[in-house]
Amino acid sequence: MGENGNDKTTVTYLLEMISEGQDIADPSVSQRAKKVRDNFHNQYGFIYDTGGVLTGAQVQLEDIRNISVIGAGLMGHGIGLTYALGGYKVVLNDTREVILSNVISHIRNDLKAFAESGVISQDMIEEALSHLTTTTDLKKAVKDADFITETVVEDVEVKREIFSNLDVFCPEHTIFASNTSSLVLRDFTSQSRRRDRILITHWFNPPHIVPVVEVVRGEETSDETMELVCALLKKVKKVPVKILKEIPGFVVNRIQTGMLREVWSLWQQGIANPRDIDLAVKGSFGFRLAAIGPLETCDLAGLDLWYGIADRLFKVINDAHEPPEALKRKVEAGELGLKTRKGFFDYSQDESIKARDKKLIHLLKLLYSQ
Ligand SMILES: NC(=O)c1ccc[n+]([C@@H]2O[C@H](COP(=O)([O-])OP(=O)(O)OC[C@H]3O[C@@H](n4cnc5c(N)ncnc54)[C@H](O)[C@@H]3O)[C@@H](O)[C@H]2O)c1
Repeated sequence: MGENGNDKTTVTYLLEMISEGQDIADPSVSQRAKKVRDNFHNQYGFIYDTGGVLTGAQVQLEDIRNISVIGAGLMGHGIGLTYALGGYKVVLNDTREVILSNVISHIRNDLKAFAESGVISQDMIEEALSHLTTTTDLKKAVKDADFITETVVEDVEVKREIFSNLDVFCPEHTIFASNTSSLVLRDFTSQSRRRDRILITHWFNPPHIVPVVEVVRGEETSDETMELVCALLKKVKKVPVKILKEIPGFVVNRIQTGMLREVWSLWQQGIANPRDIDLAVKGSFGFRLAAIGPLETCDLAGLDLWYGIADRLFKVINDAHEPPEALKRKVEAGELGLKTRKGFFDYSQDESIKARDKKLIHLLKLLYSQ
């Protein structure tokens, strides 16, 4: 933190001192504590309450009205859209003005695609947009929030700073969720005074279309918080899946990466070309999986049959502990996929995202609309 105690890490620093057991209300403890406390007051206009754990009354689903989304990038815009469509007042916050100045038109286009496919009515476009506001001011963004989703860059320091600030800026009852895909909660929320009311909601891209959200329980998340957030997600037509313990990759990314290990190995060995590998998956078990889960598939074919298949194939399928060399070479050559216009396929003249969303919205309508 800067010597004058007046930079953006003031809150983090203050919370660190509290977690070290220093009574920052007592200036005799240290001059530094007094300076930080006074600067906090100057910067934010109120005296930070130095009490212990925030116990605030348990929020009920009907108490949730205002939702804030911190980070309005790829994931944040779709998460904000989903809650706005569900009738909630949503504030989108980002540090970059340019992101916020484009986000509403981006959301409008996504809502139009929903309307064109009949997932929502035309009226719902303006209705949902009327629920959305944007601001670069974090304090303003969260001061009335009942529920917050953080979805900023995957950087532990940035997230720690935000969660420290949220703890101070939000009402006591506010529930916090992070959309982190690779961190665990204790990495960036250990200073919080409401750790029973923090969890991970892990959305999938494109977040406004893909139905499932993994709801991941941290070491200290309460049962009530898990239940409430699952109910909230159901209310906005998502399919919450409870992950009872934080492990890297949760459930979905572990399964997906397990599959990719074999896919990349087959490609590297030249067993089939990229186009045919994708065709094979999309038109076979991929086609089935959208409707029938992997364990249902085992039951349908018979566990004895699958046991025999596993017994033979586990001995020969890939079990590497490192990503394949051929993939590394592609990354080093700057062939990163759509964003560099070349990956496994060529995207020099492409409308891939629009086309992808159109197909996915059809699937959504077919399989998930009542
Ligand atoms: N992209 C995916 O497919 C995906 C899927 C699941 C989860 N996630 C997770 O979601 C989070 C966001 O990913 P993304 O792909 O949307 O990233 P992104 O880069 O598109 O968006 C991140 C946004 O956060 C903003 N930001 C950075 N620091 C900020 C701060 N201090 N306060 C407010 N805004 C800030 C950036 O300006 C940017 O607009 C990450 O934790 C990522 O791991 C991503």
